[in-house]
Amino acid sequence: MTIERRDVDLDFDPASVPRDWCRGDAYETTFMNALSLLFPDGERFFVEAVKQHRHLVASPELLADVVGFIGQEAMHGKEHRAFNQLIATQFPQAPRLEKRVRAFLLGVRRVLSPRSQLAVTCALEHFTAMLAEGLLSDERLRGGIDPQVLPLWMWHALEESEHKAVAFDVYRAAGGGYARRAALMAVTTVIFLAVHAIVHAHLMATRGILARPWRWARPLVRLWIYPGHFGRLVPAYLAYFAPRFHPDDRDTRALVDAWRERLFGAHGQLAA
Ligand SMILES: [Fe+2]
Ligand SMILES: [Fe+2]
Repeated sequence: MTIERRDVDLDFDPASVPRDWCRGDAYETTFMNALSLLFPDGERFFVEAVKQHRHLVASPELLADVVGFIGQEAMHGKEHRAFNQLIATQFPQAPRLEKRVRAFLLGVRRVLSPRSQLAVTCALEHFTAMLAEGLLSDERLRGGIDPQVLPLWMWHALEESEHKAVAFDVYRAAGGGYARRAALMAVTTVIFLAVHAIVHAHLMATRGILARPWRWARPLVRLWIYPGHFGRLVPAYLAYFAPRFHPDDRDTRALVDAWRERLFGAHGQLAA
């Protein structure tokens, strides 16, 4: 499978995208908005981590994948920045939150060695691959997302699935070992969930639901218990800790092929 950078230019009209664009639910929408606010700087972090190890990759195929990976992540960052401008029209503190995430990631880059930054990237790419597979495979998860916003998330999910093994393969090519990969997955999980929860809480406060936990009950049950979109990812998450884990252990090729055709079809253009 070749990893291709696709030119995408989406338009988000603040006048027509509903405030609660995800299932009409304030909790779920602010959850997704919080993810979007983390993406541009997070993806820049991934790109830098991979770039720093490019010289250690001997395989021409993997080098080609690295080029595709960098192109895809840069494009995701660009389109999520555009989407985050829409978020900022509804949540004026969004740019400030993004700035804090940027400062935090700069700090992480200062503290961690390049190899550990790459291990963190592998961990977060496992998260994005799991979420992507959920979006691509489960109509109930993506159903209810406003049609003006849906192409952004489905295109991003498609490409996260396409390139899910690149950072991992670079890590291995660079001699990255199991202990660092597993330990940094554990640490990254805690920090990622905490950072996301903080951003989410700020957005929920602005939306007026932070102090109304009964507004979260139904989405929490939906996400974690029934149908449990996140709850059912736990085995896939734990699989990462197996010493012989590889992202391609989960064969998502048929799913990716189907969505590539569905989104980009014969014309190579993202179809709404
Ligand atoms: Fe991405
Ligand atoms: Fe990615």
